[in-house]
Amino acid sequence: MNLVPAIETRRARRAVSTAPVSREEVETLLRAAHLAPSCNNTQPWRFVVVDDPATLEAVKAALPGGNYWAKPAPVILAVASRRDLDCTLSDGRDYFLFGCGMAVGNLMIQATSMALIAHPIAGYKPEAVKTALGIPADYTLITLVIVGRPGDPATLSDKHHAIELGPRDRRPLETVASWNRFEFRDPAASAM
Ligand SMILES: Cc1cc2nc3c(=O)[nH]c(=O)nc-3n(C[C@H](O)[C@H](O)[C@H](O)COP(=O)(O)O)c2cc1C
Repeated sequence: MNLVPAIETRRARRAVSTAPVSREEVETLLRAAHLAPSCNNTQPWRFVVVDDPATLEAVKAALPGGNYWAKPAPVILAVASRRDLDCTLSDGRDYFLFGCGMAVGNLMIQATSMALIAHPIAGYKPEAVKTALGIPADYTLITLVIVGRPGDPATLSDKHHAIELGPRDRRPLETVASWNRFEFRDPAASAM
């Protein structure tokens, strides 16, 4: 059971084709997501699968220009939750975003193992998407996961084309992990 190749292979691919993704494939992705751990097994994730052409069009209309690349995708998964659907600790630790992130992480690795793209985005008009999908106002629309098959990188902007074909971009590991003591020199929060 070696997941490292899938983790290393996964990329936030933007060259997505219009080729269909079957209901069975989407259900496999959802099962992987739903097996994620959560605080007290609260399972705070709520997925709305968008594959109907009219609904897809409504969701895609809520994407800003920078997310043009998502327009060909045959499936979009909306991930919504509410603070009270997961652990809320008295010191302000609310776990619903964390739990949904764990689920989407599982889903992305599963997608990679099936040669599918599953790319989460934050760039969309949340109110427009919530209205299009009937997501109640008190839920947070945490992300849209763009799902599809690999497409032609030539369709991408120069910037995205370079990222798509370029190397993995990560800070040195020692800037995000230390041993036995917090050793980070992050800029002050007000400077971020
Ligand atoms: C919460 C979240 C929001 C993101 N939003 C966008 C987005 O709106 N548009 C986009 O093109 N990529 C988006 N990305 C992709 C990131 O830019 C990408 O994961 C990051 O640059 C690292 O690249 P990699 O996933 O290929 O390693 C998002 C990723 C995450 C996890």
